[in-house]
Amino acid sequence: MLEFNCKNVSASIIGEEQGLDLEKEFNQYNDKIAKIINELNSKKDKPGQWLQWMNLGYNEETVWLVKEYAAMVQDRFENILVLGIGGSALGGIAVCEALLKPYWNLLNQEQRENLPRIFFLDNIDPDQINGLLEVLDLKKTLVNVITKSGSTAETMSQFMILRNKLEQELGDDYRKHIVATTDQNAGILRQISNEEGYKTFVVPDDVGGRFSVFSAVGLLPFALVGIDIEELMQGVKDMDLALKNTDIHHNIAAQNALIHYLMDTQKGKNISVMMPYSSRLKYISDWYVQLWAESLGKSHDLDGNKVNIGPTPVKAVGATDQHSQIQLYNEGPNNKIINFIRVKEFDTTLEIPRIFEFTGAGYLGGKTINELINAEADATKVALTDYQRPNVTITLEKINPYNIGQLLYMLEVQTAIAGELYNINTFNQPGVEQAKNYTYALMGRAGYEESAATLQEKMAR
Ligand code: PA5
Repeated sequence: MLEFNCKNVSASIIGEEQGLDLEKEFNQYNDKIAKIINELNSKKDKPGQWLQWMNLGYNEETVWLVKEYAAMVQDRFENILVLGIGGSALGGIAVCEALLKPYWNLLNQEQRENLPRIFFLDNIDPDQINGLLEVLDLKKTLVNVITKSGSTAETMSQFMILRNKLEQELGDDYRKHIVATTDQNAGILRQISNEEGYKTFVVPDDVGGRFSVFSAVGLLPFALVGIDIEELMQGVKDMDLALKNTDIHHNIAAQNALIHYLMDTQKGKNISVMMPYSSRLKYISDWYVQLWAESLGKSHDLDGNKVNIGPTPVKAVGATDQHSQIQLYNEGPNNKIINFIRVKEFDTTLEIPRIFEFTGAGYLGGKTINELINAEADATKVALTDYQRPNVTITLEKINPYNIGQLLYMLEVQTAIAGELYNINTFNQPGVEQAKNYTYALMGRAGYEESAATLQEKMAR
């Protein structure tokens, strides 16, 4: 299990003004938290609640289907190219970066045990797309296009480019190089997939993009590059069972949700920094930023009051950002809560040679890089605490599929509980839809003519 340590948010350590009386708050909120947990679990099967992500860990059928397809195609392709954006990409990137060997795409075939390389295109920078097309051999590439709505302009435009290039290079065979992950019935991509006869996987109903990493959205790319998705899902299931505990004293997602909520609403700390001390976990911060921002940044609460609330998530990585952001965290405004992620045991050990012994760098010789990164994490934590800056630490025994499943699922549940505490709709994203609709209007999509006229007028001002 993950370890969670929140003692550095307590008043006894960082002082009354900045810290919380945790025991008092946990006791005071225990009933409310229990009610939230019970409600989430009892509502999760009801259509329209957008809580189906809480069932994904138990979806053995998808695991089986994805594994079967991956086994069938894996050795036919040298490259997997994932097209998607936001929730259709960030979980995939985060898990692949965490669980594949570093520099996976640069390893040779033998080092990759004949598994494909994986590329994610989650932007529409023409130089980047053209650059990737120059290095990818499309004859050896499987394109996994992922969009729940089936219409997102970024993803569909990338897909249209790739589909055409594939057809030019492969003739009619191009279809075998495309696998689409989208809604079961609705959307343009579903319609195109049916017409063109692509292999497809389903983004289940009532699973929002940012909560979709354990559906085929994530599982398919993971299985294609050989990540043990059964272990990943075991981590999700075990964490789900642990987080059904309605006693906040034994529920780490509830604890961190409440801590963040109280720090924001009582202590003015509305910035949540995610700072893993591991380069492999760097993109988990990107995923967390989207999860936290899109879920909790809302204009109205559930009672219809205008609230314009939401903590701002920030990504950082240790030790790198000690030399970039920590000055601000220590001495700037005391408006943040820092989430450290620590790894007890790295996969490898790297010793620093005993050279330059008679210089100021000599003390490093004979130590390991592992000791150094952990010492730096300890040092930063103590320094922040000295400056009375609240911080919590999540510790993973190792980086493996089981623990990554646990970590991401814990953060999803934490987000859902925080949303209930803020009394907002965690699962919608009207602000994202607004910008999407303006894009459709600007690009001349049928049905958006009126918005286009208003937009042109606003832009001319
Ligand atoms: O979390 C979300 O809902 C969004 O970030 C979406 O994932 C993102 O906008 C992409 O949408 P779609 O999967 O429909 O292309």
